[in-house]
Amino acid sequence: MTQFSINGKDVDIDDDPATPLLWVIRDHIGLKGTKFGCGIGLCGACTVHIDGRAVRSCITSLAGVQGAHIVTIEGLDPLGQHPLQKAWIETQTPQCGYCQSGQIMQAATLLNDYPNPTDANINAVMSGNLCRCMAYIRIRKAIKIAALEMSEVHPHV
Ligand code: FES
Ligand code: FES
Repeated sequence: MTQFSINGKDVDIDDDPATPLLWVIRDHIGLKGTKFGCGIGLCGACTVHIDGRAVRSCITSLAGVQGAHIVTIEGLDPLGQHPLQKAWIETQTPQCGYCQSGQIMQAATLLNDYPNPTDANINAVMSGNLCRCMAYIRIRKAIKIAALEMSEVHPHV
């Protein structure tokens, strides 16, 4: 039995410890916002937060999250009103949308590390999140809008 919390709720999962976390999230827990893209850690579609860091859930084993605190796109904000989510809507960033939950989860940790990110910061942190619809320009714009909103709510001194 593996125990962890997901979006603030404690869960016990009885499955092979080698099962990828992505399938635990989607199939055991029923949260479908986290997507399968490549399955080998190369596209970012499956990105979730584990103890506050962006992690590829497709290459993370169930055994590896014993005692961890996991957040998925469904738990980023209880009302879906995180500044990134609002900026994504404002900029109409998604095209097919498939990559976008991973993009937002990655961007959330970017803004934790770089509250006022430069293009270089965005390139460095977001380059592992691929978008086959080439929404990169809108993603960059949305990140900057969200950063501005967050800085106005929590001004840096
Ligand atoms: S599905 Fe996990 S990185 Fe592509
Ligand atoms: S919006 Fe289609 S893959 Fe990114």
